Amino acid sequence: MKVLVIGSGGREHAIAWKLLQSARVKTVYVAPGNGGTALDGRLHNLPLSDFNELAEFAVREKIALTVVGPEGPLAGGIVDFFRARGLRIFGPTQAAAQLESSKAHAKAFMARHQIPTASYEAFTDGAAAHAYVDAHGAPIVIKADGLAAGKGVVVATTLAQAHEAIDWMLGTDGAANTLGVQHNAGADGQAQPRVVIESFLEGEEASFIVLCDGKNVVPLATSQDHKRLLDGDEGPNTGGMGAYSPAPVVTPEVHARAMREVIMPTIRGMEKDGINYTGFLYAGLMIDSQGRVKTLEFNCRMGDPETQPIMMRLKSDLVDVLMAATDPHATVPLQDVELQWDRQSAVGVVMASHGYPASSRSGDVISGLPADGEDAMVFHAATKEDGSHVVTSGGRVLCVCALGGTLKLAQQKAYEALNHIQFDGMQFRRDIGYRAIQR
Ligand code: AMP
Ligand code: GLY
Repeated sequence: MKVLVIGSGGREHAIAWKLLQSARVKTVYVAPGNGGTALDGRLHNLPLSDFNELAEFAVREKIALTVVGPEGPLAGGIVDFFRARGLRIFGPTQAAAQLESSKAHAKAFMARHQIPTASYEAFTDGAAAHAYVDAHGAPIVIKADGLAAGKGVVVATTLAQAHEAIDWMLGTDGAANTLGVQHNAGADGQAQPRVVIESFLEGEEASFIVLCDGKNVVPLATSQDHKRLLDGDEGPNTGGMGAYSPAPVVTPEVHARAMREVIMPTIRGMEKDGINYTGFLYAGLMIDSQGRVKTLEFNCRMGDPETQPIMMRLKSDLVDVLMAATDPHATVPLQDVELQWDRQSAVGVVMASHGYPASSRSGDVISGLPADGEDAMVFHAATKEDGSHVVTSGGRVLCVCALGGTLKLAQQKAYEALNHIQFDGMQFRRDIGYRAIQR
């Protein structure tokens, strides 16, 4: 069969790579793809992003299944668009994707369905937001309401930082727009800056990702990412500088708790609200020292870079699982699917371009890319082919992944592969996985 993956990041490269391993799959198209998916002779990049053109392509080429990677097209309603044309697609509908695209919506949803999360209030009015922060004190967390590519959250350790964050997010000086926050519409349909202010939670974060067919839920292997730019989890927040699987902080007890208190109430809560949640669901969890779980955020997709180490460990056929999840009459329904995971650990280290995350530089020539190995894989994100070279084309450029018998061994192998790769201005962390290795 032919399958189509939508997106251009490292997550999509990893999904496409995994789909190719299925004996049922003849061709994988990636729209638009990147330099890495272009290099792989078995993958085909498609320079399309318009929903109509994508759907026409899917009809013409008899695409059996489309998998959507990033939140943008999901929030834009690509699943509704494809389904209306009778096309099989895995992902949440536009209504379901609001769990990610609006933090205010997600917080209200969690409050309504008693899903544990930090206490909060949402504001469009600057004066009220400033007063709330003064009344609650620091540390406190300020979040822009709207898709913001991981840049819309400020964990303010001082009141001054909190006030400053409110000012730029509410856009009095237009700063939030220049940073790429996509404001959600207010009651009048116009884009309206809004902030969510919530209490600061302590603990260790984990990424809890499941796939769902509207009713049944299959958890993926556990994972954690490193959101800060610099070693020791210092520096600015990014989309993620590296990730690993499994996450030892997610003990069997924490896993059971996350399923019982967060994931199932979310799927059931959506159902009660009249929405069947289909697709990947990613709960960002904060786990405290007692193993209690609170929800930091929902994403309506897999994580990037978490997907890359997770796909390295997945032994089951991803196509079988996704076909079961999109077919109410599947021979093996989703509730009977049990995913098989490599017992080894996987680590993925992100290499970012000069200036990331504030900016990014394109056009730097990348050298030293290894041939795909059994145990190590370089998933491309922001790269493109330029004549005989592969060059950088954005912020997070590559994710170098490896499997190993322990997290420490996986880490060593990932860095061995990474040490051959060079491009001007490259930035990467030297400690991906350290927290879990210390445990
Ligand atoms: P979010 O996009 O909501 O997951 O926030 C991005 C990052 O900010 C999270 O991964 C956390 O590291 C941090 N963060 C968000 N909310 C809180 C909170 N209530 N308490 C502490 N840290 C938080
Ligand atoms: N790595 C965090 C995310 O994908 O949102």
